[in-house]
Amino acid sequence: MARKFCFLLFCAFLALCQRLPAQSTAPAKPAATKPTKSVGQAPAPPVDAEGHQWWQHAVFYEIYPRSFADSNNDGVGDLNGIASKLDYLKKLGVDAVWITPCFPSPQVDFGYDVSDYEDIDSMYGTLSDFDQLQSGAQEHGIRIILDFVMNHTSDQHKWFIDSRSSRTSKYRDWYIWRDGKGPNHPPNNWVALFGGSAWQFDGKTKQYYYHYFYPQQPDLNWRNPAVKSAMFDVTKFWYSRGVAGFRLDAVDTLFEDPELHDNPVLPGKNSYGDLNEKNEYNDKLPEVHDILQGLRKVADNYNAVLIGETWTSDVQELNQYYGPHGNELQMPMDFMFTKVDKLSPPEFRKQIAAVDGAAGWPVYVLSNHDIERSYNRYGDGKHNDEIAKVMAGLYLTLRGTPILYYGEEIGMQNNNPKTKKDVKDPIGRLGWPNEKGRDGERTPMQWDNTPNAGFTTGIPWLPIPVSYRTHNVDTEQKDPNSILVFYQRLLALRHTNPSLLEGDYVALNKNDPNVMSYLRRYKDKAVLVVLNMSAAPQKVRFDLEAQGFSSDEARTLLTTMPGVRDKASLSDMNLAPFSVYIGEATKPARSSNAGN
Ligand code: NOJ
Repeated sequence: MARKFCFLLFCAFLALCQRLPAQSTAPAKPAATKPTKSVGQAPAPPVDAEGHQWWQHAVFYEIYPRSFADSNNDGVGDLNGIASKLDYLKKLGVDAVWITPCFPSPQVDFGYDVSDYEDIDSMYGTLSDFDQLQSGAQEHGIRIILDFVMNHTSDQHKWFIDSRSSRTSKYRDWYIWRDGKGPNHPPNNWVALFGGSAWQFDGKTKQYYYHYFYPQQPDLNWRNPAVKSAMFDVTKFWYSRGVAGFRLDAVDTLFEDPELHDNPVLPGKNSYGDLNEKNEYNDKLPEVHDILQGLRKVADNYNAVLIGETWTSDVQELNQYYGPHGNELQMPMDFMFTKVDKLSPPEFRKQIAAVDGAAGWPVYVLSNHDIERSYNRYGDGKHNDEIAKVMAGLYLTLRGTPILYYGEEIGMQNNNPKTKKDVKDPIGRLGWPNEKGRDGERTPMQWDNTPNAGFTTGIPWLPIPVSYRTHNVDTEQKDPNSILVFYQRLLALRHTNPSLLEGDYVALNKNDPNVMSYLRRYKDKAVLVVLNMSAAPQKVRFDLEAQGFSSDEARTLLTTMPGVRDKASLSDMNLAPFSVYIGEATKPARSSNAGN
């Protein structure tokens, strides 16, 4: 007990020693902890005095491997490409990368159709490349998170090939096979998310199989204990190679009603021409929680984190994914920000209040490989770079773990296909022009202003927007006012400032329609974040006495406004359009109430 206490004190001391000087011109080095080799060991001790785990202090970064860096110039990114960019990621302030599926796959859904869970697709490299990436990442203090596609396999997976071969196959019951209601009449009215009936007739055995996504992605039958055991073993296979956790794909839809009731039909049609329906019988069934609790037990043996692709509509639904005793997902994604498409302080306040009050640790995401890039969603077409910094100022200073999407840090924009024949993502071809697919947010990373943005010397698998000439790593690294340098400084601050690491969240000036502001309070200090989300200059004042802090002035830590001094007045703060001010408030002498 005494030893544990000394350890916690030591960690708190270290955190306090690693403070960032105000307005440093060169980005400070983040003080990430090195991941420990964690094979089969008991959960590691917390990393700080507040009992936080490593993933609560970490900054996560999603890599879409097809598009990150192409080491062999075949036009598609690969694992060696990622390995060559570890210095870049470290300098940015990334502690963990989530790599979307890089396993063998026919690539119908660009890797989300896995045909072998325990290997690497040759287009990305080999298992030994993976091991090298893993050890290189470990040397850089960066953990690797893999994508676990649990809901379905590829129709080319050996389990499915066997399953469809005969009604008596050993693997028959690993998938969901049913008789139709009659000729050309599937078992029920369920519609696939990617268009058409969710049932595919298989001529050989004259039954239908179920697929929530494409027909080439048959759903696994998680009610079969053999499926559960084989899939749990997959996670152990990767943990024993040093992986620090998984992002769990499509967990909402692991189970279906065994009696196959029809879903209620809603008015209208979707982009693919199917009747809309409410997924009452094939989405968020309670059985999913048993599986998550089991996966968590395994993960805990490896000090690993489970991130969920959980499409929750409110905080009650989100809370269920943390588990009744915090024993399911440590990081269910709420996607609430991704549903806010405009710079709206009232809307952000509402979403943050909900997530900040949830039963577990908040997770903040602005965009990903399925969602239009934040640069376009929030940009007004004129001030997009400033707005990108405002959004960084928001989601990187909140209480919770952020997951960046590659390229967000340089202001990459969507490059949507112009014509149907350009589309690579099958849903874009099926739903054109209403649904253009997801190619636009998956274009190659922009490294420099040479042809193909330095991503490849081959032909990139998706076209790169012309904005790469100005928005690329090399150019932005040389510009102290770039989005990239702002991200680097902000992440360095986030890694070292105790209030940003440990503090609570308190909304300020809650009725201001233009300026979003809040405190992150920890002990006798607080970080004040002020974000002007409007195109007009704004004047604000803060009365922090009720929070126990001095209302005179703040010590400037980081701002996008040139000319702001080391100290800023809290009673009369002038904000430039779309600007960020981050400062530190202190308690008046003698008052020392703990704020957290
Ligand atoms: C969610 C993934 O993010 C998406 O890209 C994929 O198409 C579906 N799951 C199916 O696996």
